[in-house]
Amino acid sequence: GLPRCVKIVEVGPRDGLQNEKNTVPTPVKIELIKRLATSGLSVVEATSFVSPKWVPQLADAKDVMEVVRNITGVSFPVLTPNLKGFEAAAAAGAKEVAIFASASEAFSKSNINCSIKESLVRYNDVALAAKKLEIPVRGYVSCVVGCPVEGSVPPSDVAYVAKELYDMGCYEVSLGDTIGVGTPGTVVPMLEAVMSVVPVEKLAVHFHDTYGQSLSNILVSLQMGISVVDSSVSGLGGCPYAKGASGNVATEDVVYMLNGLGIKTGVDLSKVIAAGEFICKHLGRQSGSKAATALSKV
Ligand code: HMG
Ligand code: MG
Repeated sequence: GLPRCVKIVEVGPRDGLQNEKNTVPTPVKIELIKRLATSGLSVVEATSFVSPKWVPQLADAKDVMEVVRNITGVSFPVLTPNLKGFEAAAAAGAKEVAIFASASEAFSKSNINCSIKESLVRYNDVALAAKKLEIPVRGYVSCVVGCPVEGSVPPSDVAYVAKELYDMGCYEVSLGDTIGVGTPGTVVPMLEAVMSVVPVEKLAVHFHDTYGQSLSNILVSLQMGISVVDSSVSGLGGCPYAKGASGNVATEDVVYMLNGLGIKTGVDLSKVIAAGEFICKHLGRQSGSKAATALSKV
């Protein structure tokens, strides 16, 4: 059966914006986060404390957090690739962080410049430091069905990394189809492998919509017992180190589907659409959400 409630993790301000070439002014980022935070979303990933040489768009992480840290009632996790990032995030007032490993060696190297094993050692340091400060840690596994370099990724490799993150103390592990190549045909066996080593209530799914498969993949994930879904307002985004990968599934489309299924999200669709219109207008771009586009014509 399907879950009665689903938690949506909005990743637009981070995953959505990290790939934008033109620098988005800090006040625009903050306004976007504020709008998302008042639309009923309980989690809005705000930014990343990564190297500004690797992701110049998020070089203002500290300034974003300066304002966002004072917004109550919503969690604002931030990405931290290492202890340096974790310390900067904690100093900037982040109350939650996310660590991101890969199930494929080639992508680990191109995204965080180290092997999977090395990344797990780094992340263990982050997890220990976070535990001391009682900062919850979310884990990501990237390339859960396909890698831009290596092609298909074995489910057992995904299960291994997911379990490592879970054992480190991640309260949730999000399974990322970074390049959006998965279909229910590959997502189901991957989830079966992960669910055999990590409890399903600790898992989230994170689909990029490159091939238009996200909603089908989300539906099969829900049928398998998953109740946490990552998405990005207007379908913004893509990983700068995953060439050709398009944005995340659009939050508006996920909410529309869940509303249709009678599954509670607590999210006000019209408010998310308005947040999407705000950022698309700034970026000079059409929305990547079909639901937002359709409803704006009604
Ligand atoms: P490196 O070059 O190997 O790092 O990068 P390093 O330790 O050799 O340091 C090089 C320089 O970076 C030094 O500065 C460090 O101080 C600095 P310099 O001495 O040259 O002036 N540095 C930092 N600065 C700020 N914050 C930090 C930090 N760490 C080092 N935290 C590193 C290694 C991990 C830092 C780099 O590769 C990096 O930042 N990668 C992040 C890439 C990224 O953000 N990718 C996108 C997010 S992942 C994603 O989108 C997938 C996901 O959505 C899930 C999915 O879709 O599947 C999560
Ligand atoms: Mg992503």
